[in-house]
Amino acid sequence: MSELIVDNIRKTFKLSRKQQKIEKTDIKKKVAVDGLSFQARRGEIYGLLGPNGAGKTTALRCISTLIKPDTGDIYVNGDSVLKDAFRVRKNIAFLTSELKLDDHFTPNYLYRYFSNLHGVNATEMEQRKAMLFQRFGIDKFQEVKIADLSTGMKQKISIAIALVHDPDYIIFDEPTNGLDVLTAKTVMDYLLEMRDQGKAIILSTHILNVVEKLCDRVGIIIDGKLKIEGTLAEVIASHEDKNLEAVFFDLMRESVGEDHV
Ligand SMILES: Nc1ncnc2c1ncn2[C@@H]1O[C@H](COP(=O)(O)OP(=O)(O)O)[C@@H](O)[C@H]1O
Ligand SMILES: [Mg+2]
Repeated sequence: MSELIVDNIRKTFKLSRKQQKIEKTDIKKKVAVDGLSFQARRGEIYGLLGPNGAGKTTALRCISTLIKPDTGDIYVNGDSVLKDAFRVRKNIAFLTSELKLDDHFTPNYLYRYFSNLHGVNATEMEQRKAMLFQRFGIDKFQEVKIADLSTGMKQKISIAIALVHDPDYIIFDEPTNGLDVLTAKTVMDYLLEMRDQGKAIILSTHILNVVEKLCDRVGIIIDGKLKIEGTLAEVIASHEDKNLEAVFFDLMRESVGEDHV
C-alpha cells in the first residue's frame, strides 16, 4: 500500500490557565483537529490549506508521530502511527522552517550524527550528503559552525538533515514560512523533484499561491475539519468555477460567519 491514509483523527489539547487567559475563555479543552480524513499518494504533493489555527500543524505532527491523535489512526505505507510508530519514523520526515540546530556544531558533523542515528551505512551517507549538500549549496559551508551561518543557510541545512534517511513520505509544515526568496525557490524545486521521484509529499500552508504552484491535490481545512478536497480544477469547478481564493473565502464565510471574513 504505497500511500498515506489519515483516518478520522481527532486531537484535543488541555488549556492551561495561562492559555485560557490568552484565548479569553473558561473552556478547558481545545479541539484542534476534529474528525480529519484524507489520503496522499506516492508521486503527488498534497496541500493542506487553511487559515491560522485551523489545525494544520497539529495534523502534521500526528502524521509524523510527534504527538498521538486521541482517536482515529494514520497509516503510512500500511504502518499505523499508533501501533508501529518506529516503522513509520523510518520512512517519514517532518520538515519545518523552524530552526533547531545546535550552534556549536558544523553541518558536516550534524549530518553525520543524524545519519548515524537513522542507521544509514557509511557509503550511502557519503553519497547522499554529497548530493544534498550540492543541491542546497551547503558544500562550501560544511565545516563552518552553525552560529556563523545565515538564516537561509541554516534552514537549508536543517532540511537536508531531516532527509538523511531518504524517506518516501515527506511532511512539510508551511514550506515557505520565513524562507528568503532564493531559499524558498531551492526548496520548492527540490519538493517537485522528490515528487517526481515517486515520494509522497504533504505540505501545509495558508498561502494560496503555494497551492497553485506546487500541489497536485488540495484539502481545505477550517476549524480542524476538511471542507473540500480535490485537484485544483475540481475544487474550483465545485464552486461555480471561481478561483481558489474565492472558494477559500466562501468556505471561511460558511464556517465562521459573514462578519469575520
Ligand atoms: N499544545 C497546544 N496546547 C493548546 N492548544 C494548542 C496546542 N497546539 C495547538 N493548539 C491550538 O489548536 C488549534 C490548532 O493549532 P495548529 O494546529 O497549530 O493550527 P495551524 O497550524 O493550522 O495554524 C489552535 O487553536 C491552537 O491554539
Ligand atoms: Mg501551523
